[in-house]
Amino acid sequence: MITLTDIAYVRSGVADLDAAIKFATEIVGLELAAPTEAGVAHLRADQRHHCLALVEGPSGVIASGFTVADADALDAAETELERSGLTVRRGSAAEARSRRVREFIGFDDPFGNRIELVSQQESVGRPVAFSRQAGISEFGHLCLDAPDVHEAYRFWSTRFNARVSDWIADAACLMRIDPVHHKLAVFRADGPGLCHMNFQVDTIDDVFRNWHFLQEHNVEIEMGPGRHPQSTAIFLYFLGPEGFTYEYSFGVRRIEDEAGWVPRTFDPAEPGSIDMWLGPITRTVSQPQIRSGQPAGAGLS
Ligand SMILES: [Fe+2]
Repeated sequence: MITLTDIAYVRSGVADLDAAIKFATEIVGLELAAPTEAGVAHLRADQRHHCLALVEGPSGVIASGFTVADADALDAAETELERSGLTVRRGSAAEARSRRVREFIGFDDPFGNRIELVSQQESVGRPVAFSRQAGISEFGHLCLDAPDVHEAYRFWSTRFNARVSDWIADAACLMRIDPVHHKLAVFRADGPGLCHMNFQVDTIDDVFRNWHFLQEHNVEIEMGPGRHPQSTAIFLYFLGPEGFTYEYSFGVRRIEDEAGWVPRTFDPAEPGSIDMWLGPITRTVSQPQIRSGQPAGAGLS
């Protein structure tokens, strides 16, 4: 059993780096870290050095990162994953530097999502210099795509410490790795990809101020504002460049009584199962996974 201690980052390939940076800063509000590497932009939202890296190149998600406790935990994870038949690759020093981690390993989940486990992700001590006041408090969660959410849960719950918090029938599995209702979710889709990346905001007012701001700037609102009955979070999904969906949300449920929580199942066809406020429901756009082993080194670029 591999213990994931937190989510770490999303690494996304973009054909138009300047446009993607402009959106991530001026629209989403993230801080752009001082450039240190040609073709890579590091975006910051909280104590992490970055939680989103935009990498110039083929468009598509490159990897989703999670932290483990330390170097020994990473070694043990590598052994365990290899023993289970997965191909695991250890990142080079340059690749680890680009991720601001001491060490990392990469592998594909059974559906082709590229996952990276990292040790010692760098923190930055100074306050985040947000590009605009969106009210962001932290990188909240990431959602992956897979054709079978039950198989995905089997993978995440048998190899890792992920536990289901709630099901949206066969459409989604919302999982926790700490008291937060979900830091990882898997949504049903034909192929692997990043369904969305979530940022928590401080207040309900931030959600609605952001909604007006996004509309004024002609950003495509995919869904919301609404409220998920599972996590109780008030959500707003919107579309960034190159098929990358961002989410702001406020008020996610914490599950403090671990033993007492019983996962529930919601039928997505039932009104209110996605949005308690009964707003229009749409399947948000996912950014497809860049399949590893295709372009040279793309899996770990
Ligand atoms: Fe979400």
